Amino acid sequence: MLVAPSILSANFGKLEAEVQAICAADCDFVHIDVMDGHFVPNLTLGPVVVESVVKASTKPLDIHLMVQNNSFFVDLFAPFKPEFLSFHIEEEKHANRLVQKIRDLGIKPAVVLNPHTGIESIEYLLEVVDMVLVMSVNPGFGGQKFIPNVLEKIKRLKDRIEIWNPKCLIEVDGGVSSANIELLREAGVDIVVAGSYVFSGDYAQKIASLK
Ligand code: DX5
Ligand code: ZN
Repeated sequence: MLVAPSILSANFGKLEAEVQAICAADCDFVHIDVMDGHFVPNLTLGPVVVESVVKASTKPLDIHLMVQNNSFFVDLFAPFKPEFLSFHIEEEKHANRLVQKIRDLGIKPAVVLNPHTGIESIEYLLEVVDMVLVMSVNPGFGGQKFIPNVLEKIKRLKDRIEIWNPKCLIEVDGGVSSANIELLREAGVDIVVAGSYVFSGDYAQKIASLK
């Protein structure tokens, strides 16, 4: 299992040290939550802060957009060359065009599903994306409770991925901890995002417990 700690739960007063610490604790990606106050009822960070994260990180970035105007935010964050740039399908009318735009910028495109969004909405995108991010909480905040029926959705998604694009990865975000990691592994998840769980103890120990 690959682990992407979400810096949303980090201490922003010492953000660079926090990023260095999770990288030293052997995380695989640094997950950055971009919220615009419209798509989700919260605001997080912009390019100025991401620049500090890039400076401090020795690991690739995984940028999760929770915004209304995806194309605008892709332009804003593409210069940081993240490994993945994910956008929510609920907020995109022209998903193929956006996927191609992200790929043309040299970044792996990923599509995100809210907990209530069915996999049918992205079935025809599977062959063009590198990853599907399945939300296991309603996006907007760290520290929420994992929604268990997401496990069934992941299993069905895995079946469709086998048909359309076996290389496509599955990432899960929200309420991930040692309590559900085995179930996520069994369901076929490749990468987990974890915020409050990782940042509430010894980072290396917490990350290792998810691998
Ligand atoms: C939620 C964010 C998550 C969040 C995860 O909107 O996308 O990345 O920070 O936090 P935990 O692991 O605490 O649920
Ligand atoms: Zn996220």
